[in-house]
Amino acid sequence: MLKKIGIIGGGYIGGVLVQEVVRRRLARVVAVTDPAPFVNPNDPQDKQDVTRKQSVAKGKALDILAGNPLVSSDVRIEAGRDYDILAGCEMVINTAGVPRKARPDGTFPSREELLSINLKVTVQVADAIAKFCKDAMVLSIANPLDAIVYTLYKKLNPPKNKIVGMAGVLDSTRYRYFVAEAAGVSVDNVEALVLGGHGDDMVPVRSCCRIAGMPVEKFLSKDKLDAIETRTRKAGGEVVGLLGFGSAFVSPAFSALEMAEAMIFDRKKILASCALLQGEYGINNLFVGVPVMLGAGGVEKVIEVDLNDAEKAALAKSVEGVKKTCAEVDTMLK
Ligand code: 2OP
Repeated sequence: MLKKIGIIGGGYIGGVLVQEVVRRRLARVVAVTDPAPFVNPNDPQDKQDVTRKQSVAKGKALDILAGNPLVSSDVRIEAGRDYDILAGCEMVINTAGVPRKARPDGTFPSREELLSINLKVTVQVADAIAKFCKDAMVLSIANPLDAIVYTLYKKLNPPKNKIVGMAGVLDSTRYRYFVAEAAGVSVDNVEALVLGGHGDDMVPVRSCCRIAGMPVEKFLSKDKLDAIETRTRKAGGEVVGLLGFGSAFVSPAFSALEMAEAMIFDRKKILASCALLQGEYGINNLFVGVPVMLGAGGVEKVIEVDLNDAEKAALAKSVEGVKKTCAEVDTMLK
């Protein structure tokens, strides 16, 4: 159990995170910060006064705390609009930024199209971490995932083991679920790995997919697997299209918690995570999704998977996309 964990952003993902940190008793205190609802300077003064007294973070905190007796949890929540409540956090999970949302015509933006808007809030988040909890382990979920982790790294310059992004666990759990559903087996029997950037060019690695230790091809035809891998790559968008109001939030939160628990309980769990590569996979100074060992030291080891030629080419394509978005970050930060 940590003394204190911070959740930056109290939106849909942040709300599930706070609720689960409380229920799983991952820290004695969870701090959640969110500036919403925003005060509109064009509103009449009395409306502005009402909005200023409101707080999404405080509202969610009270709602969750009221359920504590029913889940036998004495975890405390600190909540507010400001970042100062992050003081003393040993780990922060960053969800700050806008999610993808379906347009009226049913189309939706790519994750990369969120960069210009989410970069601004990420810079504020980095400043807040630097000011209030500079030694905290940073686990980031905001999109575009790889570029936001890169931004936090550039702004905070932490040891590379102390910053990691969540996406590979989510992409791999989607792959696992679709395989389990198609094969008619328990999700517990399916092991899967998705590498690369958290975009539509991510790389589901078929050669690493196993059902009860056996190659997945024993259970599913090539055509079925092709369709599952295509669906996995676009699964985030599928949810955006269905929800209408935003993007997936339960499975992303659970995926981040899988990583947080591996670190909090020093489990040495190997999970696909967005980590800084310095030579591994022939990639330098980029954050990309690869299997890493997560324990009390954060990212304790990067594991290099033996890929076939097609998988290597697919990873190179995905990494090109990450590189391009990070080059945009470099330009915007100048
Ligand atoms: C997703 O893939 C939110 O990027 C996240 O659903």
